[in-house]
Amino acid sequence: MKILVFGARGRVGEVLCTAAKEAGHELLTPTREQCDLTKPEEVSDFVLGSMADLVVNSAAISRVEECEEDALRAHMVNAMSPAAMALACRHTGARFIHLSTDYVLDGRKPGLKGVNARCKPVNTYGMSKAEAEIEIGESNAEALILRISWVCGNPAKPSFVEDVLSRALREQKVAAVVDQDSMPTHVRDVARVILSPQLKGVRGVLQVTSGGEPMSRYDCVQVILEHAGALGVLSKKPVVETQRLREVNCFRVPRPAHTAMDNSGVLALGILMPSGRECIRRAVEEYLLYTRN
Ligand SMILES: NC(=O)c1ccc[n+]([C@@H]2O[C@H](COP(=O)([O-])OP(=O)(O)OC[C@H]3O[C@@H](n4cnc5c(N)ncnc54)[C@H](OP(=O)(O)O)[C@@H]3O)[C@@H](O)[C@H]2O)c1
Repeated sequence: MKILVFGARGRVGEVLCTAAKEAGHELLTPTREQCDLTKPEEVSDFVLGSMADLVVNSAAISRVEECEEDALRAHMVNAMSPAAMALACRHTGARFIHLSTDYVLDGRKPGLKGVNARCKPVNTYGMSKAEAEIEIGESNAEALILRISWVCGNPAKPSFVEDVLSRALREQKVAAVVDQDSMPTHVRDVARVILSPQLKGVRGVLQVTSGGEPMSRYDCVQVILEHAGALGVLSKKPVVETQRLREVNCFRVPRPAHTAMDNSGVLALGILMPSGRECIRRAVEEYLLYTRN
């Protein structure tokens, strides 16, 4: 199959491309210099000329502060270009898979959110991603939106799991937010779902996360440190400083607090997902291997 991947050098895109290549697919991976998502017409032309069977959009301005600083750019990259991809796919008949986020939810109430939970984002990033979901839904393309959350497991593009582990290995203090929870999700599980034959013909929105109960940042830190401790790589257990979301200095923009999504839709397709704890443990081991080599 010929797969066009936008955002191929990002945290998810990179791992997806490796998995797709291993599975024998032909890849088309434009850089932002070759196709700039601030220009939806360029994106549309690229898809129309690509002859791709499947288009995956893993590109986004994913940094929350960056979206707030330039809302127009976030709107173009995160909403208008995905909309252009969907319309172009409708024209060519290509399948379209777009990555979205738990940040489309308002996150006010604790607990696992179903796929029909109300979307009411609290920041520009979430708004731009929610807008994309609406535009893609209205495009009538053969499209599937995968909502993912708290992605970890690409050691070359560290997420919070790798950052915490890296600090702990250097005997630095670790900060852990106690009042924000979601579902950590391993990047290779996201890639596996995107490439799985069970998605054939599935349209709409699917929540692709690990399973189990919602985990706070603090819970995640505990799993990271416990597992690293059990592997014997910590010379001493680091000091863990608990924080509330509103106390995090580098967060200048609000984040939703409770955005854990249930993954029953994926399970119903016969696709297995690990627990959040398991995916963190894998990410810890992979980061240790990566930093040793
Ligand atoms: N990471 C998470 O925890 C998480 C959670 C929920 C949802 N998501 C969603 O999952 C998707 C992938 O996330 P990620 O973590 O892999 O993101 P990422 O590491 O930030 O990668 C984003 C990619 O988008 C590309 N990009 C940004 N602006 C562009 C532009 N103007 N033109 C062309 N390409 C552009 C970047 O290109 P360069 O390589 O040139 O910089 C990069 O390859 C996104 O849709 C994100 O919203 C991620």
